[in-house]
Order: sequence, then C-alpha cells, then structure tokens
Amino acid sequence: MFIRGPYGYGFPVESFKNKNVVIDAGGTGLAPVKSIINRYCKNPKEIKKLNILVGFKSPKDILFEDEIKKWKEKFDVLLTVDNGDETWTGNIDLITKFIPDLNIESPDDTIVIVVGPPMMMKFTCLEFLKRGIPEVNICVSFERKMSCGIGKCRHCKINETYVCLESPVFNYTKSKQLLD
Ligand code: FES
Repeated sequence: MFIRGPYGYGFPVESFKNKNVVIDAGGTGLAPVKSIINRYCKNPKEIKKLNILVGFKSPKDILFEDEIKKWKEKFDVLLTVDNGDETWTGNIDLITKFIPDLNIESPDDTIVIVVGPPMMMKFTCLEFLKRGIPEVNICVSFERKMSCGIGKCRHCKINETYVCLESPVFNYTKSKQLLD
C-alpha cells in the first residue's frame, strides 16, 4: 500500500473562530469543505453562525444527501439545483441568485468559503463582494487544480503561482488574479 499527502495548506480555521461563516459549495466542491462543516457540527460554539449554500446541476447530482440532512438540523442550509425534475420540490436556480437575500449581519465579521467550478466561484465571489464582504474574508479553494501536489507536474500552475505549493486556499485579493 502506498499513501501520500496531504499536501498544501488547509483553510485557516483558527482565524475563523468567533466569526460568522458562510460556506458556498458547488457540485464536487462540497467534498473539500465537508470536514469543516463536520468540525462545526461537533463544535458549534467555535463560530458565531454558519450558513451553508450548496448547489448541484440536478437532483441526481446531489452529493452527501444524508449529511446535508443532518447539517440542516443544526445550521441554515440552502440546497439548490440548476435544473429540477418531476420529483424535485426544492429550490431551482443558480446558487449565486440566493446570495443577495442571505442574512449577513456583519460583513466585516463574516468569512466566506467558496469552492466549486470556475464560473461559479467567480460569480459567487462577486456577489459576496456586493454584499460588503471584504476581499480578505473570502477564501477560495483551487483544489480542482491539484494533481501531483508537490510542484513537479505544473498542472496547478496559474500564471506564476503553483497552487499546490502556495496553498490551494487563497483569499480573494490573491485569487482574483487566478480565477479564469
Ligand atoms: S499539482 Fe503538480 S505542480 Fe502543482
């Protein structure tokens, strides 16, 4: 058996303590933030409030359905799909459409985590900026770019940045130069 990793740096959860946290994940982007949500399930007092927004292409694409149900018992969870079907009775729209109505009491005291496909990340960040969230409070993960994880394959290279070596998590001030 061969095990390697983990590589890079995770989300700076220590700096999230006593803040409002919004986790915004699209599709498989939910996987890398699942452990943070589960951390707050175990230690809800670590932060002031958690909002979770998750979006998938269609009902059949929904991941971690059982866990999402459990999260709903503890936190505000908004689940949406881009396209519904005859069985779906929940939200139908792009995840970005729900950000203007999100209850954000104190933007300066709010951390936003964004993970998902490139277009979703780009427009999600723009919506949160419109809501007054400071750039440095928006954490964007470029996990999807990771391949070898050790700076050798160049798969993760965007301009001069090796995503795997520097993180894959960047604040918006840095990530806006990396978002395509
Ligand atoms: S993932 Fe291979 S160089 Fe970064």
